[in-house]
Amino acid sequence: TADPVKVMKEQVGKAAADRVKSGSIVGLGTGSTTAYAIQYIGERLKSGDLKDIQGIPTSFQATVLAKEYGIPLTTLDEVDRIDVAIDGADEVDPNKNLIKGGGAAHTREKIVDSLAEEFIVVVDSSKMVDRLGSTFLLPVEVLPMAMTPVMKAIEKLGGQPQLRMGVKKAGPVISDQGNFIIDVKFDRIDNPAELEKTLNNIPGVLENGLFVGVTDVVLIGEIKENQPTVR
Ligand code: A5P
Repeated sequence: TADPVKVMKEQVGKAAADRVKSGSIVGLGTGSTTAYAIQYIGERLKSGDLKDIQGIPTSFQATVLAKEYGIPLTTLDEVDRIDVAIDGADEVDPNKNLIKGGGAAHTREKIVDSLAEEFIVVVDSSKMVDRLGSTFLLPVEVLPMAMTPVMKAIEKLGGQPQLRMGVKKAGPVISDQGNFIIDVKFDRIDNPAELEKTLNNIPGVLENGLFVGVTDVVLIGEIKENQPTVR
């Protein structure tokens, strides 16, 4: 039998892909849920249901998937707008604020997602939290040479930082931009908007994974009475 989380992710990815209109410039997010959206956008293009789409990828992963599924790509230098962006999240709070960066892609994601006219978040129901930081560490991308002072500054803010290490790689995870990721545990994040700014003000920090006031729509994949649904 199919893994229920996978089923929810596929369902919600497809629902987001169905909302894309012909002629759109589409921000393509990163992660296993968005991967389904990219796949279904590609299938709609192939069937002729969707025409004239240009994608702006948020990572090498998105670039590779877009090529695999036949979505033409462009860059921020070539376009004057992004109509819609579709991206996953690691946590979503009741105000539609997010923690992202589980895939180390939050810096480019934040650029693309915040430029989009409509930003659609695609998650399975396990990502919904009452308060950000309750289940997931907050990712912070840093310039490698600034790693130690940035970690000290984060400790002063009350966070517990740890350098993200590779799984099938010796040494730290390297982002698409060649930087390190520090994952931070905060006891509680009371004011995400303020913390987002404070962290980004530390010299050497490129971007953190708090997305405040960026989301327009949250699509949540659920399983109700054994049936996958999207709310
Ligand atoms: C990438 O850095 C993240 O922001 C992803 O969008 C996030 O981790 C969601 O990924 P999944 O859809 O695989 O859970």
